[in-house]
Amino acid sequence: MSLKLSHLPSRQKIKPVYPRSPSAIDPNNPPWPAYRGYHEYSFAYATMGQRLPTILGKGIEDVVLTLNQEYDEERIVDLVKCIERMDALKQELQGQAKLRPIIDDGEADVALWNKLIAKYFQGKTFMNAPWLFAEAYKYRRLQESFSVSKHWKNYDVFFRQKCDTFSRSSEAVFELSMRFAEPFTLRPNLSPEEQLEAERLMFLELTQICLWGNSTDLSLLINMTEDQIKSLQSTGGDHLAATEKNILGNHMKRLWETVVNLRASTGGRIDFVLDNAGFELYCDCVYADFLIQSGLAKEVRFHGKRYPWFVSDVTKKDWDWLLNSMVYGHLFPKASQEEIDSLRRLGMRWKQYEKEGKWVYEQHPFWCTGYTFWELHNEAPDLFLHLSRSDLVFFKGDLNHRKLTYDCAAPPSTDFEIAIGPMASAAGAPRICSLRTIKSDVVVGFGPDGDELAEKLDKEEPGWKISGKYAVVLLSEGRPGEKVMFT
Ligand code: F6P
Ligand code: MG
Repeated sequence: MSLKLSHLPSRQKIKPVYPRSPSAIDPNNPPWPAYRGYHEYSFAYATMGQRLPTILGKGIEDVVLTLNQEYDEERIVDLVKCIERMDALKQELQGQAKLRPIIDDGEADVALWNKLIAKYFQGKTFMNAPWLFAEAYKYRRLQESFSVSKHWKNYDVFFRQKCDTFSRSSEAVFELSMRFAEPFTLRPNLSPEEQLEAERLMFLELTQICLWGNSTDLSLLINMTEDQIKSLQSTGGDHLAATEKNILGNHMKRLWETVVNLRASTGGRIDFVLDNAGFELYCDCVYADFLIQSGLAKEVRFHGKRYPWFVSDVTKKDWDWLLNSMVYGHLFPKASQEEIDSLRRLGMRWKQYEKEGKWVYEQHPFWCTGYTFWELHNEAPDLFLHLSRSDLVFFKGDLNHRKLTYDCAAPPSTDFEIAIGPMASAAGAPRICSLRTIKSDVVVGFGPDGDELAEKLDKEEPGWKISGKYAVVLLSEGRPGEKVMFT
């Protein structure tokens, strides 16, 4: 029997309420709506549809270069199969294929990946899964193309390009090395207050150098001219004063108070969850060097990726390459002897920090998964515990920011501490600072008038969210010192 409902009110459109309640949040349903590849209004659309196939195509070109220089038949045949797997991945990406489980290639993250796919993404495609997950999955599949081979397990299709970002940045590289080669000293005739002020100013400038070092990541800037790179990497005082107004959520003053308090208490441990290799890593190291020398930190821990990730992210090979080429390399044929010496000295000091255990490089498998950092507490409890022992954790760059904020359409006025969920609210959550130039859709921490500001920029400056011209420096106090609990 069918009922006639002609006297009842018509069906209404029920708008979902955001943020979702904590129990309704999962990787396919972030607190605010997810960005997905088919959302034409989002950078997800261009990335999944065009940028990723292009990046894969360039990767294949790189492997072909290697192939053409190989002479051993077994290695050649093995590498050809890697290219075939990359080709197949490219076709899946462009053909709306369903996301399949990762093949067990012995990597420590296979179980994490496959659990995530089975629980939340069965039947999902590159275009309708949340953008963050689909994009991360593509890099995991790229890794799989090599990790199942016999001879090419550790091949990095982006390595050549990553090295280039450093050697193409000579002006900014020497600008910094010529200033920091000698251990820094404060003028002795300054009063204690003046000394502190001098350090504060230096800290603020270096924070900006570390921040803007993120604007030159390879995945976006592959076609840039030398002049464009130079202008983005400008490290002069006037330039930095001018760019500070582009920091749309700016907690730098609080950040200084935090590190000064650290020095007064323990002179603690600072962690960097790294982003890009080459020039950005160099800037991170200059900053970390200052933190050690000034006594603001006693120990710095750097967290990198286990395999090539989002084109330019730092792997252990990139880390070693940077320090070794600073000391032994011949990357800058036009540089003066003074400049080469300054870079060498800096590199030697950094290697010495490593030997003394003042700098430690780590690579937890969790950093190369499709999980956001909302899930870090549950999915990587050992890592959460480890980070909880840090006095301050810097998260560098756009992708780390997307992962902190669940990469969803939170209003720009949302407080950073709300946007990062358990990374701020769980017992023992460390103090966190996100140093990010804005290169994708999610923006938070803009303050009470942030929604209006974002709307104005949407109207006046289309593309402002992907240009790398704007940035945030956002701090979360966390709940340091409290006992970490797992359910
Ligand atoms: O592909 C888009 C993206 O994931 C964006 O997050 C950003 O544009 C880029 O790749 C990576 O940027 P970053 O190196 O700063 O994390
Ligand atoms: Mg990156």
